[in-house]
Amino acid sequence: MSTFATTDTPGRLRLVQVGAGGMGKAWIEAITANPDVELVGLVDLNTDTAHAALAEKGLAGVLVGTSVSDVAAATGAHAVVNVTVPVAHHPVNVEAMFAGLPVLCEKPAAPTVAEALSLAASAEASGQLLMISQSRRYFNSLTQLKAVTGELGEIGVITTEFFKAPHFGGFREDMDHVLLVDMAIHPFDAVRHLTGQDPVSVYCEEFNPAWSWYKADAAATAIFEFSSGLRYVYSGSWCADGQETSWNGQWRVNGERGTARWDGEQAPVVDAVDAAGGKLGVPAVAAGPEQIAGSLAEFVSAIRTGKVPDGEIHANVHSLAMVEAAVLSAETGQRVRIDDVLTAAYEQALVAEKNAEVKAVLAAWGSPLGRLACRAEAISR
Ligand SMILES: NC(=O)c1ccc[n+]([C@@H]2O[C@H](COP(=O)([O-])OP(=O)(O)OC[C@H]3O[C@@H](n4cnc5c(N)ncnc54)[C@H](O)[C@@H]3O)[C@@H](O)[C@H]2O)c1
Repeated sequence: MSTFATTDTPGRLRLVQVGAGGMGKAWIEAITANPDVELVGLVDLNTDTAHAALAEKGLAGVLVGTSVSDVAAATGAHAVVNVTVPVAHHPVNVEAMFAGLPVLCEKPAAPTVAEALSLAASAEASGQLLMISQSRRYFNSLTQLKAVTGELGEIGVITTEFFKAPHFGGFREDMDHVLLVDMAIHPFDAVRHLTGQDPVSVYCEEFNPAWSWYKADAAATAIFEFSSGLRYVYSGSWCADGQETSWNGQWRVNGERGTARWDGEQAPVVDAVDAAGGKLGVPAVAAGPEQIAGSLAEFVSAIRTGKVPDGEIHANVHSLAMVEAAVLSAETGQRVRIDDVLTAAYEQALVAEKNAEVKAVLAAWGSPLGRLACRAEAISR
């Protein structure tokens, strides 16, 4: 059953995109390639950036402005895609939802778990869908790995090795916790998707190799524990020349009936038996749209049908909590419980919330733990 407003508008959904930077241009392409939607407005604090992005893509007739609610009202928009920098996610999402529009927002939901909880409560107070685009869930070969993982019996260990050597320039080379905060949310979110489980704790070490061209720690190793006993070990570096992995990293899933490996791009390789003792194969899966095209398609379907999407804000908070817990563990040298991070964030959110309606929703939860779990359940229905 839908927990947010849906639309039965015939024809294409009219979208306003906010943010026309590097990733914004990729979203303009994804929107214009999807026959179910139409880009009617483009918002950016810098309108020159927006005009340049539209000119680069050869698009005319798209209204440009600096306010999401003004541009949405002027264009009769049905929904918003938020591709701004993380610090702008909360204000832009809240403005759009309280203007009566569902939002598809780039990851991370917000810079902090406390702000993400405020967003979840804002979605409830406004009655609108807020979906976080975790685009790395949408790989057909990951769907195959998920199917195989479900056949391996109890899962013992999952590992991801992520080794890349990008020279981004700009903010990433100066930011703190660059690997954990800017990148690791993708595999952290993917392991939740793969297993259908949330971790309970993490121990993490972060460090900066001597040759690093980043100001702060560009490498990290984290061990997450799940209530089933499963361990997820993530090891990554962003200054690792030679034998680089794919952008999804190199994965190994080991369960009681064998092992699957995934290079992050091709179909997984399996060495395992099935429940009847025969050789376990890799199932074919229906090829769906991948990466941001995949999350856009799921968002459109959700608004049309009311089916709660994977990235609905309540269900996404745990992925951000994994990042925040890993950072806290690295800073303190202690194992950190995810529930403690969520509880502390909830208390911060209650104190910080300025919107009375949203504050009342947060207060009614009593605790974030039950609320997030029961909302996440709606997704599996
Ligand atoms: N899924 C992925 O693989 C992936 C890859 C890269 C970036 N991202 C995410 O995409 C988002 C954008 O990243 P980017 O690299 O395009 O950043 P960017 O800095 O290149 O662009 C951000 C744009 O947002 C605009 N902006 C900032 N605040 C605004 C506001 N309040 N209102 C309107 N416009 C505003 C800026 O002027 C800028 O043009 C981030 O959340 C980032 O994490 C995701």
